[in-house]
Amino acid sequence: MNSYKIALLDGDGIGPEIMTEAVKVLRLIETRNPVRFELTHTPFGASAWFDCGNAFPDATKAVCDAAHAILKGPIGLNHEESKKIPVDQQPERGALLPLRRRYNTYANFRPVYLPKALAHFSPLKPEVIGEGVDIMIIRELVGGLYFGKKEMGVNAAGKRYVNEVLEYDEDQIRAIHQVALATAQKRKKVLHNIHKSNVLKSSVLWNEVLEEVRKDYPEVKVEHILVDAAATYLCLKPTMFDVMVMENMFGDILSDQGGGILGSLGLMPSACIGPQKAYYEPSHGSAPDIAGKNIANPYSMIGSVAMMLEFSFNMPKEAANLWQAMQSVFAAGFSTADLSKPGSGVTMISTRDFGDRVVAALAAMPV
Ligand code: IPM
Ligand code: MG
Repeated sequence: MNSYKIALLDGDGIGPEIMTEAVKVLRLIETRNPVRFELTHTPFGASAWFDCGNAFPDATKAVCDAAHAILKGPIGLNHEESKKIPVDQQPERGALLPLRRRYNTYANFRPVYLPKALAHFSPLKPEVIGEGVDIMIIRELVGGLYFGKKEMGVNAAGKRYVNEVLEYDEDQIRAIHQVALATAQKRKKVLHNIHKSNVLKSSVLWNEVLEEVRKDYPEVKVEHILVDAAATYLCLKPTMFDVMVMENMFGDILSDQGGGILGSLGLMPSACIGPQKAYYEPSHGSAPDIAGKNIANPYSMIGSVAMMLEFSFNMPKEAANLWQAMQSVFAAGFSTADLSKPGSGVTMISTRDFGDRVVAALAAMPV
């Protein structure tokens, strides 16, 4: 019997309600497998700031340090509410980036997955979706502009100015390319390298290091594509991509575009992997406008559990079952409100209902 401690960071907005559904799934998995999960909810994000004056309190750090893995809900407030918190304490800068830095979670896996049967959720035409979209975006998560030096002030000419630095060293670049090439090796053996080397020196080094690392993966075909062109092709021909690797900021933008191709950011789980610790989170925000209404889509949160089973607990079979259970709920004609409009031929279901249906589908599957 394996026993794992999981830190649960419910977060803000819709975070707590989609976390509730993820916990239902974890509890079911315990009944089906020789595994026990010790689950500890701990404050994180804007809610933590309002409760204890710190978006990433020391007590939360201690729970995360002691955990085998971390499951994190979305964080953040709407624009107006955000202004109640000092800029550096706002949950993105005050909690999320420090979490990524603390555990050096440099490898961010963001699957963009839509089987053919669910192509109707996508805003793209059926002929563009073809046999379905199945892309793994690999985003470097602890470098680049996000973590470079930042300076704001008034210059000698009396003008306000800002200076933020895009910094990578070759070890950081090498580490993410190794992850990307190894992932491509296990999948279709094609890696799209996303860069902007016609302008950015950071991309020149990025590409240079890739040429070195790829020698260890001779079977993987590497295609280079400029980030702006990649944005176009993601819309025009998403099926040309399998594994894509990119630096932090490009990955932030293109992975949201991935959600757009699927039809909703609600379909975007993710895994953030570091050398010692990993955390799992939906790629989307906290959607404060729909918080507490029981209409949010918990797919990204439950999908993040599936990724946790695979990456942290070595349970690939049960992870695959969970993906299938989620897809089966959609395939049976149900949909949360983010994916379909009433009257589009699907039956609208709530957050809780989606979770319950996933649990029922998984419970009916052989282990
Ligand atoms: C994401 C989010 C974060 C990011 C925000 C909340 C800081 O958009 O995980 O993609 O920009 O990395
Ligand atoms: Mg983002």
